[in-house]
Order: sequence, then C-alpha cells, then structure tokens
Amino acid sequence: MVQLMEEVPRDRMFNEGYPYFSSGSAFMREHFEGLAKRFMGTELTGDDPFIVEIGCNDGVMLRAIAQSGLRHLGIEPSGSVADAAAEQGIRVRKSFFEESTAKEILEADGPADVIYSANTICHIPYIGSILDGIAALLSPNGVFVFEDPYLGDIVDKTSFDQIYDEHFFLFSAQSVAAMAARHGLELVDVEHLAVHGGEVRYTLARAGSRTPAPAVTELQEQEHERDLHTLDTLRGFGSRVLTIRDDLVSLLRRLKKEGKRVVGYGATAKSATVTNLCGIGPDLVEFVCDSTPAKQGRLTPGVHIPVREASAFSSPYPDYALLFAWNHAEEIMAKEQEFREAGGQWILYVPDVRTV
Ligand code: SAH
Ligand code: TYD
Repeated sequence: MVQLMEEVPRDRMFNEGYPYFSSGSAFMREHFEGLAKRFMGTELTGDDPFIVEIGCNDGVMLRAIAQSGLRHLGIEPSGSVADAAAEQGIRVRKSFFEESTAKEILEADGPADVIYSANTICHIPYIGSILDGIAALLSPNGVFVFEDPYLGDIVDKTSFDQIYDEHFFLFSAQSVAAMAARHGLELVDVEHLAVHGGEVRYTLARAGSRTPAPAVTELQEQEHERDLHTLDTLRGFGSRVLTIRDDLVSLLRRLKKEGKRVVGYGATAKSATVTNLCGIGPDLVEFVCDSTPAKQGRLTPGVHIPVREASAFSSPYPDYALLFAWNHAEEIMAKEQEFREAGGQWILYVPDVRTV
C-alpha cells in the first residue's frame, strides 16, 4: 500500500468550509450522470433497490438517481456541499461514513444494493472501519463500487501532485484486493478510467458471491510484471519528480528574467504539492485564477499566491499560464481558446515540463 505517513484530523479538512464542488466541471458532470444511468440499468433494477453514496459532495452523481425516485442516501460530512445536494432534493446525511454510521443506516433503511464512492475512499485513513461498515451494510448480492486515482497512472505520468493531505492512499489493484480480503470482501471487477489523470473503478462484492471478471487478474498480473509494488519503482518515480521540479523552476525563472507574465490556472489541491515542493511563490506566478467562489480572494497554502476570480485570467491575458488543473486540460483549453489565439502558451509539468 502506498500511503501518507501523516494524518490531518478529518474535521480540519471536511467541514462547513470545504471548497470543492464536484459539479464545477462539465466533463465530470457527464461522467457521473453516465454512471448513474448505468447503475439504474444494471444493479438498481430489482424490487425497491437502495443505493448509498459515500462522499456524495454536491450531489453530482445522486441527482439523476433522486430524480428517478429511487431509494438513495448520500453520506457527506462537509456542510458546504451537503447543503448544495440537499437543496436539489437529494437525501443527505451530514456525517462521516464509518462502521457505526453503516450500522445505523442498516437499521433505518435496510441493506444497500449498491454502495458507491468516488474520490473519497482514498481520503480516509480509517479504512478498516469503512470496509467493516460496507461488509455490514451491503445486501448479500450487493456491490461496493469506488473509483480513485490509480498508482499505476501516477507512476507512469510522474503525477506527483496527486500526493497531498487529502489523498491518504494511492491504490493499486493488488493493494485493494488484499485490503478487501481482510474484510470478507473480494475484488470482482476493475475498470480503468481516464478522469482526474487516470483512475481505477474497483468493484467489491461479498467473497464468493460473484465471479471475478478476467480484468481483475489481468491488472494484478500487469502490476506485478511492471514491479509496481517494489521500492525501486517508487525510487525511480522520486528521482523523476526532482527532474520535473528543477525543469519547472528553471523555466519560470527564465520567463521572469525575460519579463514575461505567468499566472496559474486552477487553485487545485494538487498545486499545493507542486508550489511547495518547488518553492514557487508570487514572485514567479502572479496569481492563480479559479472558478470556485470559496477559493477566490484567499491565498494558496504555504507559498501564498493570491487566488483570483476566473475573469482575472483574461484581463489582460498573461504570456504564460501554468495549468495546475491539468486533469481538466481538454475542457479548459477548449474554453480558453482565445488565450492561445492572443499568443498565450500553457505550461504543463506532467509527465514532463513543456509549453504548448
Ligand atoms: N464524490 C465527489 C467528491 C469527492 S471529494 C467527486 O468524485 O467529485 C471527497 C468528498 O468526500 C468530500 O465531499 C468530503 O467531504 C467527503 N468525505 C471525506 N471523508 C468522508 C467520510 N468518512 N464519509 C463520507 N464522506 C467523506
Ligand atoms: P480538481 O480537479 O478537484 O483538482 P484537486 O483535486 O487537485 O483540487 O480541481 C479543479 C480546480 O480547478 C477547482 O478548484 C476548479 C478549478 N477549475 C476552474 O477554475 N476552471 C475550470 O474550467 C475547471 C474545469 C476547473
């Protein structure tokens, strides 16, 4: 298991001020609407089915399910986003999911046919309690489906900025299979996803209740063949990170010397890793623009680059934009086509430093 050594108290991260609203990306809205439709056509076709989502955020996935009148429950501790979900008619319980929560839900609503979670399970250090809760809440033939950034992609792309306070675990199929087995569960399917720089959607079921898809063994074998589990592989990753750091800092220093304006695009959690590792402050990046109102007017963690509203980007356009939200590159570059038409260039740093 690849994981952080330090743990931030959960209430300090997930509270009324939690600023990440999943519906902020049109591309991600489509991703989750597609999955909701898929669930409604497969796992949720029985008699009065019930789906629970852990970390439902602003309701980006449950919205379509709620509109179809299916029994559902979102578990979401962060008030900011839980309220946004509730306002749309989604049934939300404002709390952290853990074993005790699972048992309370089981008592009140009965077993769940689907328990789903996106970009949340990797945030939770008390993973044992989560899996015990899932084992308690899941119906005999139910599935627990979750998707999170994939260690294989992180190593392939040297996307070191996926390592930050909230991302406590970086899962692989091997680590998920081993983890599931300790709680009477089994990994029965894996699906590689292109979102957020590369993720895997894992399906767990009660051990022996479903036949695992061939993809499960294939991915584990592939991970074994490429030594994803060895320290040497991760040391190689570490040295590539330092090359990216050095290249990015030299590029920004050269641009500064040439009198070019550089701004950041997307005050992502990921960017805190990049800017703090590289020592990139407001001397090298004037400000970071971000469409999230809760982030605007504040400073980025550690290096204190001002965060400004999205419209600050074009008034006037900078010479270069450091794309911290590179996982949304396609959506952002399409939206900001005029920036390039005006002669602007994007700076990317994953998998290596380059301008486009
Ligand atoms: N599923 C959304 C949100 C991911 S952000 C998406 O993929 O876009 C992670 C979310 O998990 C946050 O909204 C946070 O408040 C929530 N969260 C963190 N710990 C949790 C826990 N123990 N139980 C339920 N939700 C949790
Ligand atoms: P996200 O992808 O969640 O990255 P992380 O998990 O590292 O925080 O965050 C994307 C950020 O980029 C979010 O703060 C919103 C912002 N953003 C824009 O400003 N404009 C856009 O067009 C998009 C898609 C995102």
